[in-house]
Amino acid sequence: MCGIVGYIGKNQAAPIILGGLEKLEYRGYDSAGMAIISEDGKLTYEKSVGRLKVLDELTHGGSLLPGHAGIGHTRWATHGVPSNENAHPHFNEAETIAVVHNGIIENYIQLRDKLTKKGYKFHSETDTEVLAHMLDRYYKGNPLETITRVMHRVEGSYALGIIFADHPDEIYAVRKDSPLVVGRNEEGCFIASDVPAMLKHTRTVYYVENQEIACLKADELHFYSIDEEELEKQPTEIDWDANAAEKGGYEHFMLKEMYEQPKAIRETLIPQNNPRIRSNDIVIEELNMSDEEIKAIRKIHIVACGSAYHAGMSGKYVIEGLARIPVEVDLASEFRYRDPIIEEGALVIVISQSGETADTKEALHLSQSKGFPVLGIVNVVGSAIAREADKVMYTWAGPEIAVATTKAYSAQLIALYLLAMKFARVRGTVTDEYFKELLEDIQRLPDQVEMLLESRKRIQRFANRYIGAKDVFYIGRGADYATALESALKLKEISYVHSEAYAAGELKHGTISLIEEGTLVTALATQEALYQKTVSNMVEVKSRGAFVLAVTNEGNKDIEKAADYVIHIPTTNQWMANSLAIVPMQLFAYYVALGKGCDIDKPRNLAKSVTVE
Ligand code: F6R
Repeated sequence: MCGIVGYIGKNQAAPIILGGLEKLEYRGYDSAGMAIISEDGKLTYEKSVGRLKVLDELTHGGSLLPGHAGIGHTRWATHGVPSNENAHPHFNEAETIAVVHNGIIENYIQLRDKLTKKGYKFHSETDTEVLAHMLDRYYKGNPLETITRVMHRVEGSYALGIIFADHPDEIYAVRKDSPLVVGRNEEGCFIASDVPAMLKHTRTVYYVENQEIACLKADELHFYSIDEEELEKQPTEIDWDANAAEKGGYEHFMLKEMYEQPKAIRETLIPQNNPRIRSNDIVIEELNMSDEEIKAIRKIHIVACGSAYHAGMSGKYVIEGLARIPVEVDLASEFRYRDPIIEEGALVIVISQSGETADTKEALHLSQSKGFPVLGIVNVVGSAIAREADKVMYTWAGPEIAVATTKAYSAQLIALYLLAMKFARVRGTVTDEYFKELLEDIQRLPDQVEMLLESRKRIQRFANRYIGAKDVFYIGRGADYATALESALKLKEISYVHSEAYAAGELKHGTISLIEEGTLVTALATQEALYQKTVSNMVEVKSRGAFVLAVTNEGNKDIEKAADYVIHIPTTNQWMANSLAIVPMQLFAYYVALGKGCDIDKPRNLAKSVTVE
C-alpha cells in the first residue's frame, strides 16, 4: 500500500527513483510523484495521477528533474481521491521540506486542527501533509532532532522518506509499522519499501526496525534511535535471483507466477539449505517443538486475510483430518476485535505472503499479548511478521509481484500439509503405510501441477466463452469448499466478474434463486466421500438452467452426466487435491481477465500489501 523510494549518490537521482518505483508499483498505482534536490539546493518536483508511466513521460524519464538526491512515491489512496494535490511528495509551505509516506497517521485530524490554528494551510486531503507541516514547525536546522520530535507526536504507521533543501547532501528515512529497507553500493545509498526496488543496484540491504531513523549520504550511512543515539546495524546480503522479480518473457507476472508454482512447491518441501523431507520423515526445525509439545497441542488457531485465509481453510481440513487437532480459522480483521478465547494448549498460526498485512500483524500481537507464542507462515524473508512471530516457517515461493496471489498461496498449502503430516505422525493418528503414501503424494505435486498448467490452451478456449459473464458461482464440499472460496476470489479480483463461493449443500438455502439460464456454476468435486452429494447439487443447478463446469479426480467419468464441461485432475489423496484443483481455476480467472482486457497484474482498487486495516 504505497511504495516509497529514495536515492542519494553519484548518479542522477530521478531515473533511479523511477526505476525503483516501477518495481513497487504493485503496492499502489493511482498516482505517483517525486522530489529532487538540485545541485544548487533547489527542491523541484513533479506529480501525476495514474500509472507511473505518466510521471515518466512528464519528466522525460526523470531528465527534467536534475539532481543527485531525491525521494519518490507510488500511491494507493487512503485519504482523499487520486489527484495531483493528494499525490506525494507533500511539502511545507515554502517547499523546502518534502516527505513521502507509506502508512496511516491516525491522529492526523487533531494534528491538522492544531497546525491550522497556528496558521498552516493545507492543500490536500491526505494524512501525510500534517507531517510536512510538523517538520516545518519544529525545524531549526537539525533534521534528526526535528524528525524525532515529530515521531513523538504522531500516532499510526509510517515509512517516510524526507529531504530538506538546506541539507542537499542527505536524505532521511524512518519507519514505524510500515516496511522500509536501506541499501548501499559504491555509488550511493537507497531507501525503498521493498527490496526489488533496489536489487538492480545493490544486494546489500539494512532492515530498518520500528522507530529507527536512517540518514543517507552519497557515501555514508547512519542509523539512529528515536533518542538520537547512533546505532550499529549489520547488513543482509540478498541472495535471490534478480530475475525472480522480472517478467521473464511472460505477458503478465500472474502467468509467470502460476508457472512458478511447481518450483514454489518443491522449494517449500525441500528448501535448499534445510530440506523438510528427510529419511522418509518430515523435519520442520523452525517449529522447534518436541514430540511431547506436539502431543500437548489441544487446539490450533489459524489467522489470516484473503487468499492466505483460504489456505488456512484448507489447512483446517487437512490438520483436523490427519492429526485430529481441532482447528479454528479466523479472518484476521475479525479475530483482532472479537477478544478471541485462546485456551491453554493452543497453537496460533498466522499466514501471510507479504508478512506486512496490518490485520494479520495485529492478530499476531494480540495472541502474543495473551501469552501465546505465534508461528508465522510467511513468504517475504525479513518482513515484519517474520521478524515479530515467535517461530517462522518460510514458504519459499520467491518474490510475488502480481497483486493476485498464486504461487505463494500454493506454497502456503504445502506448509500446512507438512505441519498436518508432522503432527499426525507424532501423535500417531496415521498409520505408517498411510504416512508413506502421503509423503509420496506430496512429492508428486510439483509434476502434477506442471501437467495441469499444460492444459492452459483448453482452459483459455473455455474461459473465452465467459468474458461477458455477469455472475459465476463456485460450489464444493469439505476441502473443496476452501478451493471454491479461493477460485471465486481469483476470478472477481482480476476480471471484475461477480463470483461467489458456496458450500455446495448451502446453495438451496437461498442462493439457488440466482441461477438463470446459462449461469456458470463450477463444482469442485475432488472429495471422494462427498462426491455423490456434490453431484446431486450439480444436478439441482443444471436442471435450473446452469451451465456446470466440474473439476474432479481422474477416472470420475460418470460426472459427465451432471456436468457440461469437465476438468480432471491427476490422482492424489483427498487432503492435497486442493493444490491441483486450484490450478485450472487460476488459469480460468486469468484468461477471463485477459479476454476482457483487464490490467491483470494491477487490478483496480487493489494493492499487493495491505498495510492498513
Ligand atoms: C488475493 C490476495 C489477497 C492476499 C491478502 C493477504 O489474490 O493476494 O487476498 O492473500 O491480502 O495478504 P498476505 O498474504 O500478504 O498477508
